[in-house]
Amino acid sequence: MDLYDLLMKRRSVRNFDAREIPAEIVAKLVAAANNAPTGGNLQPLTIVVVREVERRAKLGEMVGGQPWVKNAPLSMIFCLDFFRLKRWAEASGTAFRGEEALSHFLIAYADVMCAAQTVVILAENYGLGSVYIGTILFAVDQAREYFAIPRFVLPVMVLSLGYPKTVPKNIPKLAAEIVVHLEKYETLSDEAILDAFEDKYGEIDENVERYFERAFVEAVEAERQEREERLEAIKEGMKRLQIKNNAEFLFRLRYPADFMVELNANMVDSFKNAGFECFGS
Ligand SMILES: Cc1cc2nc3c(=O)[nH]c(=O)nc-3n(C[C@H](O)[C@H](O)[C@H](O)COP(=O)(O)O)c2cc1C
Repeated sequence: MDLYDLLMKRRSVRNFDAREIPAEIVAKLVAAANNAPTGGNLQPLTIVVVREVERRAKLGEMVGGQPWVKNAPLSMIFCLDFFRLKRWAEASGTAFRGEEALSHFLIAYADVMCAAQTVVILAENYGLGSVYIGTILFAVDQAREYFAIPRFVLPVMVLSLGYPKTVPKNIPKLAAEIVVHLEKYETLSDEAILDAFEDKYGEIDENVERYFERAFVEAVEAERQEREERLEAIKEGMKRLQIKNNAEFLFRLRYPADFMVELNANMVDSFKNAGFECFGS
């Protein structure tokens, strides 16, 4: 298949069959990750490859009980790694202070994601599905302890992979012309922005299940895989908060704005515990 067609049909997959991923394929995935672009060619990346059932289950718990992490035959923990560079610099009689320099941090984070996305694309090419798990950021202390990750290394992203059993169909996106601006930034009016998101999500449906299939497929999939009645709790939350539109659903219920800001303190602490001091006081 043409690479464009492959990318246009890619979806995050959260339902995997039990087939193992052959070792040769895993080797190619990580080799391609290691060959990804990286600022200054510094390669501040370590990938922890997790295949053991018990470790998968533990990782799944850590990231907030996302069942697909445990069910996927393989997860990769993408770590932003300044440990190796610091040791190398010191052993060579100099100093690397990336953990104090926001510029090093931001470029290294971009490096890590270039590598991770390379895996996503190559995996797709081999008929695999994948899903990023960003919530590892809320479990940095725990993940560092469990996976023996040293200071100056941050687990910043998980990618879970496997052969898809089902692939979501109805994931909406903004129209490309809303996202792509020609030659200069085009500031949209509130009305145009409202229209763009209305086109993306449609109205909040009377049929809440159908709405979740396009606006919160993670919750639908979690319910399918674990029967935890999460959907009922979300529906109840929607009623309680009198959620009237998609933005309210996202920023009052799913990612409550104040709560997201409150999370900063714990996250910065866990980064500091790993020796990262580049976020101001
Ligand atoms: C940075 C990042 C973090 C993500 N974290 C999670 C996650 O914790 N759990 C999950 O199920 N999906 C996660 N996803 C997948 C998104 O939910 C998914 O990409 C989005 O809904 C769009 O769907 P698509 O990938 O099929 O286009 C993440 C994606 C990205 C890029």
